[in-house]
Amino acid sequence: MAKILVTGGLGFIGSHTVIELQKAGHEAVIVDNLDNSSLDVLDGITAISAIKPSFEKLDLRLKSAVENLLQRHSDIDGIIHFAAYKAVGESVEKPLAYYENNIGSLVNLLQAAEQNQIKNFIFSSSCTVYGEAKELPISEDSPVVPAESPYGNTKQIGEEILVDTTKGGKLNAIALRYFNPIGAHESAIIGELPAGVPQNLVPYITQTAIGLRQQLSVYGDDYPTRDGTCIRDYIHVVDLAKAHVTAVERLVEQKNNQAFEVFNLGTGTGSTVLEVIKSFEKISGESLNYQIVARREGDVTAAYANTTKANNVLGWKAEKNLDEAMTDAWRWEQKIRN
Ligand code: UD1
Repeated sequence: MAKILVTGGLGFIGSHTVIELQKAGHEAVIVDNLDNSSLDVLDGITAISAIKPSFEKLDLRLKSAVENLLQRHSDIDGIIHFAAYKAVGESVEKPLAYYENNIGSLVNLLQAAEQNQIKNFIFSSSCTVYGEAKELPISEDSPVVPAESPYGNTKQIGEEILVDTTKGGKLNAIALRYFNPIGAHESAIIGELPAGVPQNLVPYITQTAIGLRQQLSVYGDDYPTRDGTCIRDYIHVVDLAKAHVTAVERLVEQKNNQAFEVFNLGTGTGSTVLEVIKSFEKISGESLNYQIVARREGDVTAAYANTTKANNVLGWKAEKNLDEAMTDAWRWEQKIRN
């Protein structure tokens, strides 16, 4: 059993990871500043696992608060760091807020970890680091290209900070590059809670179907793909959560091959926007109101993961398919609106 600090542990991926940590017999300590999450999620976690994790409201931008936290929890075995801003468009409007929060918090956490000899660190990264990859599926060897947005850049800089920091021998880190996380817990007790109008496809679909949005805009049908719409690798959030447990266990049990490792987390299957809509219509029996509009700036044509390294080296594999993820996303949407 390990004791793991989960920053952003009340967020979408963080909360599902806390449950999987508890299921695997570990103790999760949550910190979250409630900026983009709610205390209700803590009750949701407790309802699902029957274990109330310890929780502290804390802003990781406050260096002294982070130092104090890790002094009090110097017995933790590892940190899974989710707490960050994640809206691409907003990052273009407020780049400094993104650098301050995503980079400042990371540095504060790593310094306090070093001071307290906490050696194991999992970092939330993104497939956005690959940009428009030349080869599909995308392997970890695919080059990291200049970021399209400050948000994407914070993921790249975060990884670079870890490359440098792990060279000193005091830290082991794994960056997990997520493809497109979707879905919700199958209990429909926790799920994604997008603030305002969703920017991501699946919450936009479910909110349209429930009547909160009038119509989904499909951004472009003139891409060079099988039906003209963009291809992504949609991965169920519970599969993603399990990968974090596997990754932190890898570090705690010192099974890592290098001080800094990177894994792609996807299903390996690419789906077009129209295929996602069809999956939704099939599992819900609803017909979705959508129209094709112009392309969205910054979208890549296709991104899906080569999962060989995650499967063979990390020892993790996504188990749920698109229909299952859409079923859970829809069940969650119906639950929170009714
Ligand atoms: C987006 C971010 C990415 C981030 C990820 C986190 C952009 C350009 N990229 O990825 O950096 O890591 O979210 O989850 O914002 N779509 C529509 N209509 C919509 C919304 C989306 O057609 O209303 C399409 C998009 O064009 C895309 C696909 O659905 O082809 C998925 O979009 P989205 O869910 O926003 O994810 P990404 O763009 O892949």
